Amino acid sequence: MQDLPNEYCELSSDELHARIAERKRELGARLCILGHHYQRDEVIRYADHRGDSLKLSQIASRQREAKYIVFCGVHFMAESADILAGEDQIVCLPNLRAGCAMADQADEDAVATALKELSALAGEGETVMPVSYVNSTAAVKAVTGRAGGACCTSSNVRNVFDWALRAGGATKILAVPDQHLARNTAVALGYTENDCVLYDPALPNGGLDAKQVKAATFILWKGFCYVHQVFRPEHIHAARAATPGIKVIVHPECPREVVALADESGSTSRIIKEIDEAPAGSAWAVATEANLVHRLAKQYPDKTIHLLGETAPANCVQMARIDLPHLLWCLDAIAADAPVNVIRVPKDIAADAKLALQRMIETQSG
Ligand code: 13P
Ligand code: SF4
Repeated sequence: MQDLPNEYCELSSDELHARIAERKRELGARLCILGHHYQRDEVIRYADHRGDSLKLSQIASRQREAKYIVFCGVHFMAESADILAGEDQIVCLPNLRAGCAMADQADEDAVATALKELSALAGEGETVMPVSYVNSTAAVKAVTGRAGGACCTSSNVRNVFDWALRAGGATKILAVPDQHLARNTAVALGYTENDCVLYDPALPNGGLDAKQVKAATFILWKGFCYVHQVFRPEHIHAARAATPGIKVIVHPECPREVVALADESGSTSRIIKEIDEAPAGSAWAVATEANLVHRLAKQYPDKTIHLLGETAPANCVQMARIDLPHLLWCLDAIAADAPVNVIRVPKDIAADAKLALQRMIETQSG
């Protein structure tokens, strides 16, 4: 892994902005910058397209004009873009240290082992299908694709679970890696928490016995997002006490007890849409990454928008590793036809992962 050359750390903010804008102009249609909603303001302003993880994957699968796709997001997003982009397109992640802490909680061997263990425990006539949240490594997506499963995002997880249990032929879903997203979705689909069991990859058979697996429809990987786990029910009670009538909207990566108390829950795109369509004068407490919430507050001055829990440290440290010096370094290297931080998923992994991603892209939000 190459480190950021020192010269980039010595540039002033004005110089960084001027040089990035100049590189963008110079590279024109050869360059496409994608930015996730959690990205800091000073970086996302350079994105040609901003979106949630589903929208950005869809753009990566359609966008064929630019030779270079620079992904201002985290590692799994850039991997998905590389898998979905054309053969001759090159995907760069400005800082290779921008991983996703949740994606790192499931590795491919452990997921393959879990599938074997759970199929044996479930017994004859049962089909355990993996559904991998897009916040997973390409190798985990490949295990999923090979097993006939699908990826999902927080935008379309309900429809993907629904597909798996109907057309997909699954009798049980192994949901990897986020337990909260899976539990919240199971409940949204009319199941109860009793239809879910937790699989701990550190334990033999995930710590489960045959009776527990046979009784469950959803087997949840013991993973979580540290950013969304900071939100607590007491934050919701405090927000409602401070501002009567306030609406609470939360990302489904929040724990079940938080989602259960909220007025609404949805992906980053859904949160943006709800706030955009809300009447002037309405008040919102939002439980998701702080950059997005603070941007919404600035964008809609006619509405009152708070980060739920205000002092809760809801910052994705990994997203924040994409900063202006790394972005400029990446663009300079592209301009010199010597790209740095190129994300290239090995062909055999990419082919199987693509099967799971394609199923995700074909499934509508909902
Ligand atoms: P979205 O799919 O809502 O963009 O969320 C991605 C993510 O990383 C949430 O933590
Ligand atoms: Fe990963 Fe959580 Fe950051 Fe999203 S907010 S990229 S799930 S660590």
